[in-house]
Amino acid sequence: MPGDRTSSTTVGAAAGAAAAAGSGPDLAADWVRRDAAVVWHGFTQMAAYADNAPVVVDRAEGRYLIDVAGRRYFDAISSLWVTTLGHRVPELDAAVTDQLARVAHSTMLGNGNRVVVELAEALAGVVPVDGPHFLFASDGATAVEQALKIAFQYWTNRGEAGRDRYLALGDAYHGDTVGSISVGDSGFGTEVFDPLRFPVVRTPGYADPAWADAAVAAVQANHERLAALVIEPLVQGASGMLVAEPEDVARVAGACRSHGVLVVCDEVATGFGRTGRLFASEWCGLRPDLLCLGKGITGGYLPMSVTVAADHVHRAFLGEDLGPRTFYHGHSYGGNALAAAVALAHLRLLERDGVLANVQERAEQLRQALAERVAGLDGVAEVRQRGLLAGVALDPPEGGRRWGRRVCAAAVASGVLLRPLGDVVVLVPPLTTTAEEVDTVVDVLAAAIGAVAAEDAPAGTEGRPGGPGGGHAAGTVPEGHRG
Ligand SMILES: Cc1ncc(COP(=O)(O)O)c(C=O)c1O
Repeated sequence: MPGDRTSSTTVGAAAGAAAAAGSGPDLAADWVRRDAAVVWHGFTQMAAYADNAPVVVDRAEGRYLIDVAGRRYFDAISSLWVTTLGHRVPELDAAVTDQLARVAHSTMLGNGNRVVVELAEALAGVVPVDGPHFLFASDGATAVEQALKIAFQYWTNRGEAGRDRYLALGDAYHGDTVGSISVGDSGFGTEVFDPLRFPVVRTPGYADPAWADAAVAAVQANHERLAALVIEPLVQGASGMLVAEPEDVARVAGACRSHGVLVVCDEVATGFGRTGRLFASEWCGLRPDLLCLGKGITGGYLPMSVTVAADHVHRAFLGEDLGPRTFYHGHSYGGNALAAAVALAHLRLLERDGVLANVQERAEQLRQALAERVAGLDGVAEVRQRGLLAGVALDPPEGGRRWGRRVCAAAVASGVLLRPLGDVVVLVPPLTTTAEEVDTVVDVLAAAIGAVAAEDAPAGTEGRPGGPGGGHAAGTVPEGHRG
């Protein structure tokens, strides 16, 4: 399997490698100081950044990141869910350098680029969209933004004014641009932007067992006003891996179909194999009108996203040159040639190397291991999972503070890079992860939960602290609100 070169490397090597690096902690601290002085990190309180012992990455080998002090970390969050096959995959490295010898970038506005055409042709064969057309951008949020605007103008071009509402779910996350935070739910510290959010029809998210009934009712009640439903099929990732049944997603999409409302599937997180199929829409039997892809599209190498429009949507935009049916939207780096080259090579590797079969096997192993070794621990409320997207919801005891952050800090100190979403520990290992690595990640997580629980146990009742050594004190890892 691609990216497998370091599969025998032991997880949990952070502390040992740090010792070998000699002045490791000092070196790391110096980089953190330089970093904090000039870089502004997203979803991060910069006044606290340096004190939270961040990992400053220097390089990578396979599924391991190596920090500036030489400490190794298993990348159990796939660098925020983008890395698929691992880092420094020889074939993907070669795709970038080969393309560099041709051209790194040329604009897609009014002109074309050979490798982008080849990528679109290859994607056309696999995306669950009828007669697909590809509008490339750079981030997941911009793919969603494009989809929102396309859905709106689709109705305008068809002469149906007044379709200016979207149906969106509670707990949804679609990115951080103003359009995508509008269809995304409030909260997670983004309440400050509430005055900027445009109004949507909002029904409950996957945490509510009756979410699909409510969404179907909202489609029936509002269909004349709705431009589109915007939905993360199967998994609401950034809200803590809330999961839905495929039949429920299909039922809501079916209601949209019968009432003439467009369906926008946001597969920025679920796309490219994370759920064990190439796209989560496939589990639900969905063929959306618009599909948003990002993150794993380049295997985690370069920023690229795409809004995929079904042929009937695209056709509504055809008309006279420079006329009003044109989609007046486009990003400078949309369809970057280097990103396209690596995305094309990545797609071929996904198809060639049995990666999806590995995801399904590892997902089943992870499910069993979490059920046996984590679900029953004190302080664990729930384990949620679809494929290799998993969330362990913690339930800290009365007075227990910042458990998500502290559990992840303990895991990082043991050489497993984790990042919480509030009190949900998110596990998103690369698609090529081995059985041994899954085992170790679960062991490290269980030990980390045990260590934090022991710290918070009433005096005299502590278990063995079990807090792994290393550069990170429990309680000092950056907390992430978003995938
Ligand atoms: C479902 C979904 N949509 C959109 C986004 C935004 O993607 P990006 O961070 O690339 O803008 C994310 C990011 O986590 C996501 O999970």
